[in-house]
Amino acid sequence: MKASAIAHSNIALCKYWGKRNEELILPFNANISMTLNKFFTHTTLEFDKKYDKDILVINDKEYANETKEYKLYVGRFLRVVRERVNTDLYARIVSNNNFPLAAGLASSASGFAALAIAVNEIFNLSLDKNGLSILARQGSGSAARSIHGGFVEWLKGENENGEDSYAKQVFDENYWPEFRMIACITSTEEKKYKSRPSMQMSVETSPYFKQWAEGSDEDVQKVKQGLREKDFTLVGTTAEHSCMKMNGVMWTTKPAIIYQNQTTIELMHAIMQWREEGLESYYTMDAGPQVKILCLEKDVDVLVEKLSKFDGVEKVVVNKPGYDAKVVSEHLF
Ligand code: DP6
Repeated sequence: MKASAIAHSNIALCKYWGKRNEELILPFNANISMTLNKFFTHTTLEFDKKYDKDILVINDKEYANETKEYKLYVGRFLRVVRERVNTDLYARIVSNNNFPLAAGLASSASGFAALAIAVNEIFNLSLDKNGLSILARQGSGSAARSIHGGFVEWLKGENENGEDSYAKQVFDENYWPEFRMIACITSTEEKKYKSRPSMQMSVETSPYFKQWAEGSDEDVQKVKQGLREKDFTLVGTTAEHSCMKMNGVMWTTKPAIIYQNQTTIELMHAIMQWREEGLESYYTMDAGPQVKILCLEKDVDVLVEKLSKFDGVEKVVVNKPGYDAKVVSEHLF
């Protein structure tokens, strides 16, 4: 009853922010992402009667069952799994991320996608990609997208039971080999506000939430068109605007949710300035202070050079479109 899996994190080009159903993790709006080749989670999961409680170890640190990481996320997901496969066995999970945890680099996305793959393997569920995505979604919304490589759309769905809310691949990782996303790490501290309770606060208190949700579907269509036509400007401008609209909702939540630090803001200004000077790149940010820069391969060297001299940028990682989540034979225990 043991399996291991690897899943890559993903960054949304059009964001998901707000649930229409918190229990099933169903989004108000469709969204679209790119899976990253450099950031991934490797997880081993075992269910066994030798365990008298769940054990969760992430990057060598054990999280007790009272911690929010367990209660709000993993414990909740394991309840969903136990109900589904009709077991009362406890589990041990050991997970390694090759990037900072909970700092807005989608560790929950890759983490729960890897867990869903391992659950499918252990209990012989024979889920197809849609089924895997639905299962991963019940761990964390953005994990629905990390089942796939390349460019991925999470359909918001309409059914109350969530069976039509899953992610599907729009284009695979080989479709646009020049496309890059440069992750600029500006802080490795864990974020102050977890996305789960924060986005719920936005749903309840931001006066702009309704407009945000309504406008997002159009943005997804524009990004898909931009990808189809390999129109980098259309993808970039739409992605940047989606990010800023999400931030408009975050900033107008009560109390305000502000993920940016000083370096984040300085980078946003710099990217706009460089663009005016002819270096075409766009920024996007998530629930953390990191900046992700969309660009094409031809501009990577110049951008990396500029970023290496930028005060406050701790690390720069150049990502290409990454791969599907998969079972691996190497176990972590
Ligand atoms: C800002 O998927 O972490 O990264 O569904 O509550 O687990 P839960 O939230 P999560 O939210 C991600 C929000 C975001 C935007 C995005 O990835 O689309």
